[in-house]
Amino acid sequence: MTVLISPSILSADFGRLAEQVSEAAEAGADWIHVDVMDGHFVPNITIGPAVTSAVRAATDLPVDVHLMIEEPDQYLSAFADAGADYITVHQEVCPHLHRTVERIRELGIRPGVTLNPDTSLDTLMEVIPEIDLALIMSVNPGFGGQSYIPASTEKIRRLRTMLDECGANGAELEVDGGINVGTAGAASRAGASVLVAGAAVFRHPDGIAEAIRLIRRAAEEVGADGAS
Ligand code: DX5
Ligand code: ZN
Repeated sequence: MTVLISPSILSADFGRLAEQVSEAAEAGADWIHVDVMDGHFVPNITIGPAVTSAVRAATDLPVDVHLMIEEPDQYLSAFADAGADYITVHQEVCPHLHRTVERIRELGIRPGVTLNPDTSLDTLMEVIPEIDLALIMSVNPGFGGQSYIPASTEKIRRLRTMLDECGANGAELEVDGGINVGTAGAASRAGASVLVAGAAVFRHPDGIAEAIRLIRRAAEEVGADGAS
């Protein structure tokens, strides 16, 4: 199964961000993942619309914005104006999730919804027909370089079944956190169509291009169970 790779700039060298984004694009990255954190929803502060605009200016690839912030509704238009192609919000901070998804769509942006590791997939059931992306957090959000939570693989498998059965209209299944050559295969075989990788790409000793090549190869390898 062909899997898209969406390198997360959270682990990039911010002193030469445009260069790193271009290098990832030239190396065959499919999207660029932008991790926005506000220090409230998660215990870290990263970047906002201004850096998203800089990423937009540096590449033609889809800009995949992941909002790990409280009250995301207040910032949807700012990230739309900054050039996001996808805006993904956390179910945990959207009391009116259906309305938030509608607002993202009204801005001409593809809406995504994501869940922390301990949040049940059942909370997505009603909104699945409205989204273009469902994101499984395979780490507790807030930092790059963490280890993949093994229970995520079964959650990915269940979400793939839900998307197939609930009329998801071709929504992507993205997995985010701890993706590397050791975990990409399991996530892909379980049903992921997009893999986010931060440290495994931007901190790889052999460089960005080799890192992307290895992750893609691992993701597309036929598994021990014969599934690819
Ligand atoms: C964590 C972020 C992830 C993270 C992925 O809160 O949402 O996108 O940056 O980074 P790695 O691949 O290093 O776990
Ligand atoms: Zn992310």
